[in-house]
Amino acid sequence: TENKGHVSVVLLGATGNLAKKYLWQGLFNLYLNEASKGHSFSFHGGGLLPPEKAENLMFDILKLLNCPGDSTPDRCALLKDQFLKLSHYRQMATAENYTSLDREIKNTMIEEGLNEAGRLFYLSVPPFAYTDIARNINATCRPPSGAWLRVVLEKPFGHDYASAKQLASDLKMFFQEEDIYRTDHYLGKQTVEQILPFRRKNRKHLDPIWNRGYVERVEIVLKETDDVKERTSFYEEYGVIRDVIQNHLTEVLTSVAMEIPLNNSQSFDVLRAKLDVLDSLRRPDHNSAVIGQYQSYLTQVREELEKKPNFFTNTQTFAGVLVQIDNMGWEGIPFILTSGKALDERTAYVRVLFKDNTFCLQKEANREPGKTPCKPKQIIFHIGHGELGFPAILVSRGLFKPSFPSNQWEEAKDIPPIHMFGQPLSDFYIYRPVQERDAYSSLIANIYSGKKHMFVTTENLLASWKFWTPLLGIVDEGSPRVYPGGLENGQLLDFLIVDGGLKFAVDDPLEVIGMGQK
Ligand code: BG6
Repeated sequence: TENKGHVSVVLLGATGNLAKKYLWQGLFNLYLNEASKGHSFSFHGGGLLPPEKAENLMFDILKLLNCPGDSTPDRCALLKDQFLKLSHYRQMATAENYTSLDREIKNTMIEEGLNEAGRLFYLSVPPFAYTDIARNINATCRPPSGAWLRVVLEKPFGHDYASAKQLASDLKMFFQEEDIYRTDHYLGKQTVEQILPFRRKNRKHLDPIWNRGYVERVEIVLKETDDVKERTSFYEEYGVIRDVIQNHLTEVLTSVAMEIPLNNSQSFDVLRAKLDVLDSLRRPDHNSAVIGQYQSYLTQVREELEKKPNFFTNTQTFAGVLVQIDNMGWEGIPFILTSGKALDERTAYVRVLFKDNTFCLQKEANREPGKTPCKPKQIIFHIGHGELGFPAILVSRGLFKPSFPSNQWEEAKDIPPIHMFGQPLSDFYIYRPVQERDAYSSLIANIYSGKKHMFVTTENLLASWKFWTPLLGIVDEGSPRVYPGGLENGQLLDFLIVDGGLKFAVDDPLEVIGMGQK
């Protein structure tokens, strides 16, 4: 194939956790998918450590990469070998390191007679390092004109509105908005990615019912069984709302509630429609959230952060938040966002529950009055984990049989004999991806093809923080209910909507951590 140009990928934080778990694999998949289409690649793993300390670490990671399921062991060995030859570790600690990387890339282009297509910098580093790295890239490591520059950033993107704004304006000194790719790995999850295409494809059925007239409530849930593990100091500073609700669950909320731009619309329209939702969120108040902290969290903090025995913290490791959208479509419909650590199950889903009887009247007209209860109609976007164990979209039978825009999703067979929300799975049409893949591979493919609507723009990020910051101000002063890890006593965290706010359903908590003790 004719060479369409060379792409240099620079992964900063090359031996870190994220790189080890997902990023190198995503880059390998990118290479496998794209190299045959005419681009050539080089992969530069960068870090603060000198090569003699980090090189082996990096190659140990690369050796464990997985090949596509259908490749033979020989073929796999060959592919990995090719990838390893294109990958190098380099120390990226000083301004000179960036100058010499630039020089090296330029020399390679000349020596090999290549034309430079673009440079991708993936910053898998803590945010405090962003500004210096950005300054260095901008000063000496920009690609020549005509080639693209993409800079990828990982959360946290600030701690509140003011700090997010500061970080954004720091980056603006060095890059254009179009160069910046802020990841939210939930946007790379197959089910989340599918929400919009699914809604569009089934609009004949959904248009009339996807609104306040027919939807009773929307639940957006990310439950984890793990506790905060070795991230105690991060958690102390952030808590569950900043960690996953402000970003992941809010992205999911906008995907569910947004107006659908027309089929041929651009990334810009999708982002604009999401922004419209963010701008219509009703300002939360002290009744909008219930918060909790798992019991051993306090000991963990005291021990790991070497605090005094009388140290207290009211950091939230669990939160349920009632979000309301003040627009024509959704006014008055509760969107309930819930997440927590050390809970009874690991699962993530969106559940759109339709108002009772709306459909039963039509579809189950023949049942004897009072005998068979009208089964609730719902659509569940099952993001992953859980008892079901795979990403899926479930639609109550009697609602409609869904269609999918591509053959990448298929009707699921061999369904486990479980119930979801009290209903047997046979009550649903269940669709799943033909092939499962991880979120980061998808994000990296999208960065490469410049699909900006899969990322978080400055404007949307700030709109989200603008909504969440006042509530964070309230809960940071609040008193979380203590719950046992693993939540054997699950009902402690059950909550209800009462008078337009949230309340715990049971009112004999283990204990409540008092205000202002932090
Ligand atoms: C991360 C959070 O962004 O998302 C973690 O920092 C959380 O605390 C994780 O565990 C959840 O993502 P997933 O893909 O495991 O559901």
